Amino acid sequence: MSVIPSAGNGKITVPSILERKSDLPSKNSSPARITCLTAYDYPTARLLDEAGVDVLLIGDSLGMVVLGYESTLPVTMEEMLHHTRAVRRGTRRALLVADMPYGSYHDDPAQAVRNAMRFVKEAGAEAIKVEGGERRMEMIARLVDAEIPVMGHIGLTPQSVNAFGGFRVQGKTAEAGEQILRDARAVEAAGAFSVVLESIPRELAARITAELRIPTIGIGAGPDCDGQILVIHDLLGLSLGHRPKFARQYANVGEIISRAAAEYCRDVRQGSFPSDEESFHVRTEKAAALSENHK
Ligand code: KIV
Repeated sequence: MSVIPSAGNGKITVPSILERKSDLPSKNSSPARITCLTAYDYPTARLLDEAGVDVLLIGDSLGMVVLGYESTLPVTMEEMLHHTRAVRRGTRRALLVADMPYGSYHDDPAQAVRNAMRFVKEAGAEAIKVEGGERRMEMIARLVDAEIPVMGHIGLTPQSVNAFGGFRVQGKTAEAGEQILRDARAVEAAGAFSVVLESIPRELAARITAELRIPTIGIGAGPDCDGQILVIHDLLGLSLGHRPKFARQYANVGEIISRAAAEYCRDVRQGSFPSDEESFHVRTEKAAALSENHK
């Protein structure tokens, strides 16, 4: 079993993500779970890529954690393309997946293919992600047919926030769970190479993971998925709104930024920034001439 998936040079590709499913987990070895995080800008992409994250998703969560919208619904194609390009410039090894924003694939499959191609041609995405299960089967198949690898996304699909009546855990009843299972099967049958399972019971995620041949990527779906994804702002302690129960915070970058900004303001106000060492100086002879002239 390969521990680090590689396509020769270590680049993570769609086939290498698919291979991870068959690598998972033999009884006596630790599973090579797929690591995914969101990224929206160049420096974050570079840091995450260099840290060895397998998949970088330019999520439409961008709208909420970076642009300050109340939901992901207002996010536009242009905003997504702009941020995908920035992440592209900072990424070498990770697989780059771009989220199709609300309204960019809901009309008809032809519209979906046109917009998905823009992510590939204009922004350097290697795959795209779309929300929805059974209802999106035809569209996913059309995207795959156009050589665009697709990551599915089922369970709590944030673009359905109005239909769901809020950001709520999905699949809690037997009936709702069966629908999510059908959605998972549909996404796989349509040709997706992986599927995000968001905010569903652990037991349901485990059942889907056991049944599908493509990897499942969990977010609020328990530890039995083939991989995990988090919104980077939640992980770093940079989310200013509600942080969901499943989002483990690994650092408090928000506090570091606030403290640094407050210290900077203090130093400027007190006149201790910039210091003489942080200033440029004229050459010594010129300084002498300048002080001569001032006598
Ligand atoms: O937009 C996003 O960041 C996502 C992930 C949370 C899966 O869809």
